[in-house]
Amino acid sequence: MSEDKKKSIMDYDTVALDEENHALVIIDQTKLPYNTEILSLTKQEDIWSAIYLLQVRGAPAIGVAAAIGIYLAAREIEASDFEEFYQKFRKAKDYLDSARPTAVNLSWALKRMEGIVLDNKDKPVAEIVEELHKEAVKIREEDIWVCKTIGEYGLTLVNPGDGLLTHCNAGQLATVKYGTATAPMYLGQERGYHFRIFSDETRPLLQGARLTSFELKESGLDVTVICDNMSASVMRKGWVNAVFVGCDRVAANGDTANKIGTSMVALAAKRYGVPMYICAPTSTIDLNTPTGKEIHIEERPASEVVEMWYEKPMAPEGVKVFNPAFDVTDHDLIAGIVTEYGIAREPYSESLKEIFRRKQEA
Ligand code: MRU
Repeated sequence: MSEDKKKSIMDYDTVALDEENHALVIIDQTKLPYNTEILSLTKQEDIWSAIYLLQVRGAPAIGVAAAIGIYLAAREIEASDFEEFYQKFRKAKDYLDSARPTAVNLSWALKRMEGIVLDNKDKPVAEIVEELHKEAVKIREEDIWVCKTIGEYGLTLVNPGDGLLTHCNAGQLATVKYGTATAPMYLGQERGYHFRIFSDETRPLLQGARLTSFELKESGLDVTVICDNMSASVMRKGWVNAVFVGCDRVAANGDTANKIGTSMVALAAKRYGVPMYICAPTSTIDLNTPTGKEIHIEERPASEVVEMWYEKPMAPEGVKVFNPAFDVTDHDLIAGIVTEYGIAREPYSESLKEIFRRKQEA
């Protein structure tokens, strides 16, 4: 058995910068859990496609990939002055930003990188590119602290032996380390909490079955995969003490977009008195979006729904398909939004602002 085959998925970087080869390095998540294929991407078109095709996915990981991607683009820009550099930078930024619409981390990371360009406009282009390099590395490193801190706050909401349910993958594979919704699970495991975790399979692309159950199992956690239509049933049995999910965008009033099916879990959780917590780095909170109604929900190809498991399509040829990748959970179904600066509670229009105040003061 080669060294590589002995490695666990947790030993690989979800998203990283290869400094020597000037490449974005990711695990191709469309191939998991059966094949661990590492992609080394240098071309902007390939980075765009990797985000669009969900080879790298999950809001924080998309943000980190975009930061590294735009730094790599900036390295290639030939410009005789700042104006020319900035124009080309903006073009590259808009291109990457168009890969997926819902996860605000994509535009958040790109705007942060643009801020670096503007703050350093009086410097030679080579120095601006070096500042972009430093910022991309910083965004990646910060993600580790952010997720771990979310985990610490999340852990205060549960007890040893609890049953926890999650939807989609807001795990290490969606971030640099720890994940967001999985961070309390990993930290709890380190401290002997012995959680029992239910992972919704998450149709249509099965991020829960393929990715969440995979990484939790590889890490030795007690995880059970259930079909999406089973979460109400396990809650009714009293097996779930709390739901932890990630998110792609939190609006100013606390409405939250996450993987399609999350709102169904929230409705069931409310019915059965199970608190539903949204784990959200501040990079995913968008105070410029007033409510969930204004969140742009990505629609993806019909093939994801009907052409997956069998040799032939799973539905009649030409049938109409609706395939929204995300849905909005109304804020009144959410027991708390767990961030790296504390836990926001109703009224979210106030508590989310307070979270940003704490961030500014930190
Ligand atoms: O389409 P995906 O796989 O990118 O969707 C991912 C999710 O919905 C995650 O729950 C969300 O991005 C949070 S990841 C910490």
